Amino acid sequence: MASLFSWITLFVLFCSVSSELILEEGYTVTTVIDGHKLNINPHSVLARPGSSDLLLLDFSNSHLYTVSFPLSNESEVKRISSEEKLGYRDGKLGLARFNKPRSFAVDGKGNVYVADRGNHVIRKISTSGTVSTIAGGLSKAIGKKDGPAQNATFADDFELAVVAERCILLVVDHGSQSVRLIDLKPEDCTTTSPSAQIFGLGAVTVWTLGLGLSCFLGLFVGILVRPYIIPHTGRLHPHQIQQEREALPDQFGETSSDTLLWHQKRNC
Ligand SMILES: *[C@@H]1O[C@H](CO)[C@@H](O)[C@H](O)[C@H]1NC(C)=O
Ligand SMILES: *[C@@H]1O[C@H](CO)[C@@H](O)[C@H](O)[C@H]1NC(C)=O
Repeated sequence: MASLFSWITLFVLFCSVSSELILEEGYTVTTVIDGHKLNINPHSVLARPGSSDLLLLDFSNSHLYTVSFPLSNESEVKRISSEEKLGYRDGKLGLARFNKPRSFAVDGKGNVYVADRGNHVIRKISTSGTVSTIAGGLSKAIGKKDGPAQNATFADDFELAVVAERCILLVVDHGSQSVRLIDLKPEDCTTTSPSAQIFGLGAVTVWTLGLGLSCFLGLFVGILVRPYIIPHTGRLHPHQIQQEREALPDQFGETSSDTLLWHQKRNC
């Protein structure tokens, strides 16, 4: 009897769980990078702000690639780190070597931080393409030591995340079951990268400023010119101006903007 009861309970539980399924339609899956064809083992991807390509990290071969946008199976895939496999070398990105990089994160400026798992350090790729070690560089040992970043130690399994608005880098340290925080440099937390300044945010700001300025100029000219137009036509009486302000249809059923347009037409 008891077992029958538990079976019924399980059945009811199963039904209530399966009824939670919501199948939302409208999405499509497309393979854009076939690692078998390219001899790449993709592990993680990252889009930098304002960049024309995607960063791709190959964990097993310790290589970094860029993939050109828009993404398709025809996107250009380029290796940007050294062709050597495992290793540890800072400096120019083209010669840099990593050891089983696990994940990466990007800050507001466009610098990329790499969780170099095999070397137990955190590497930084600057916007100009220089690789440096920002944490763990002195000991390169496995551990869980906090303090000045170069003296700190990390487990051999950790991932990174940047919270750009807070200007921080978070280390999700699986090995020590902890989350650790590194303050980034304030100059790396501005939200415009050099490329974004030209093609993205910067351009938007310039356009907005330009539009705002021209609106202001238009208004200014309008105010200057208005006294000369109204007495000339003698059509806009205070009564009508009041109507305009209230945006009510006038005696001809026209709204205030229609009236204004009509007056402007007559003035032209
Ligand atoms: C690329 O994708 C298109 C459509 O998805 C397909 O027809 C084509 O054969 C693919 N090309 C290659 C080289 O895989
Ligand atoms: C960091 O490590 C270096 C070299 O091992 C040592 O000289 C220095 O005292 C350490 N600093 C701290 C704060 O532990």
